[in-house]
Amino acid sequence: MKALILVGGFGTRLRPLTLSLPKPLVDFANKPMILHQIEALKAIGVDEVVLAINYEPEQLLVMSKFSNDVEATLGIKITCSQETEPLGTAGPLALARDKLVDGSGQPFFVLNSDVISDYPLEEMIAFHNAHGGEASIMVTKVDEPSKYGVVVMEEATGRVERFVEKPKLFVGNKINAGIYLLNPSVLDRIELRPTSIEKEIFPQIAEAEKLYAMLLPGFWMDIGQPRDYITGLRLYLDSLRKKSPSKLATGPHILGNVLVDETAEIGEGCLIGPNVAIGPGCVVESGVRLSHCTVMRGVHVKRYACISSSIIGWHSTVGQWARVENMSILGKNVYVCDEIYCNGGVVLHNKEIKSDILKPDIVM
Ligand code: GDD
Ligand code: MG
Repeated sequence: MKALILVGGFGTRLRPLTLSLPKPLVDFANKPMILHQIEALKAIGVDEVVLAINYEPEQLLVMSKFSNDVEATLGIKITCSQETEPLGTAGPLALARDKLVDGSGQPFFVLNSDVISDYPLEEMIAFHNAHGGEASIMVTKVDEPSKYGVVVMEEATGRVERFVEKPKLFVGNKINAGIYLLNPSVLDRIELRPTSIEKEIFPQIAEAEKLYAMLLPGFWMDIGQPRDYITGLRLYLDSLRKKSPSKLATGPHILGNVLVDETAEIGEGCLIGPNVAIGPGCVVESGVRLSHCTVMRGVHVKRYACISSSIIGWHSTVGQWARVENMSILGKNVYVCDEIYCNGGVVLHNKEIKSDILKPDIVM
């Protein structure tokens, strides 16, 4: 069975992290976002994953390196399909047609690269086989549907009556979770040009009464924006607590759900948690307080610093007695000097912060 992951957007809403790495490779819970997906696909027997990447030469470079590493460690075939112009969310499927169709008639998975869940893919295959339509999509309920694709479906069968991308007016609260299972015949509906699967293809299949939606069991979040990324981490760690509690940190200095890479060093007298991920090679000195935050690979947090509701990018340093909070996002290799207060600062990579950021602001 095959799968395609849409990895070609620009990730503008997750800047400045996405200025250093493509969004799908930004770490979430200590591994690249799409590695969570590739592992889930591998677990249900997918043998080849196509990464649909955009036209930038550096994208191909970093994605190929990532693919080679994953092929070597996971033993799953990963191929890159590169566009010469942004093809949207459907065009990449037409481009990768030959890679997705193998003559077996089997359906294939398509995933948005920035959605995190328990990926109930087995359940989705069973659902797809039972309804006999052309395409299945996962849906989930949210409080604020306007920033997603909204699905109106027949409750009893799951048949989709309407698909409305980012509606201005309320149509319903079940939204497209960005996880699809498509028959090869769907490819006959897609031309090789910039095309939106949400605006052009799904409404067409719904019209033909061949689009079905399944309510996703468990948690879900699109982590392509900072606030949702932090919420997603909480949901992910809650789920990890239920499924594999032994992966979470324990000890007198740990509060709630905390993930600490085994190569990270934690000093004396810290209080860490809840909902924290500390990446490989991090050094957290003594007396540090961390909550609701991600501290990526190679970060150094000095004595008595306090970080909450923030994302600290790779190899950054937070000085002693510094306080970083309120959706602060530090890019790669940022240096926050001692005693600095950073309240909602979004800080570009390689910057040194020498004076307080008193209210949410972008530091370029
Ligand atoms: N290859 C390629 N080329 N990929 C692309 C392109 C492109 O031109 N444009 C976007 N993508 C990828 C992104 O990397 C992402 O994985 C996926 O397509 C969806 O793009 P987003 O930019 O994240 O869309 P969204 O979050 O606003 O909305 C989408 O996701 C929601 C769920 O998270 C839609 O599918 C909504 O209907 C859905 O509810
Ligand atoms: Mg998204």
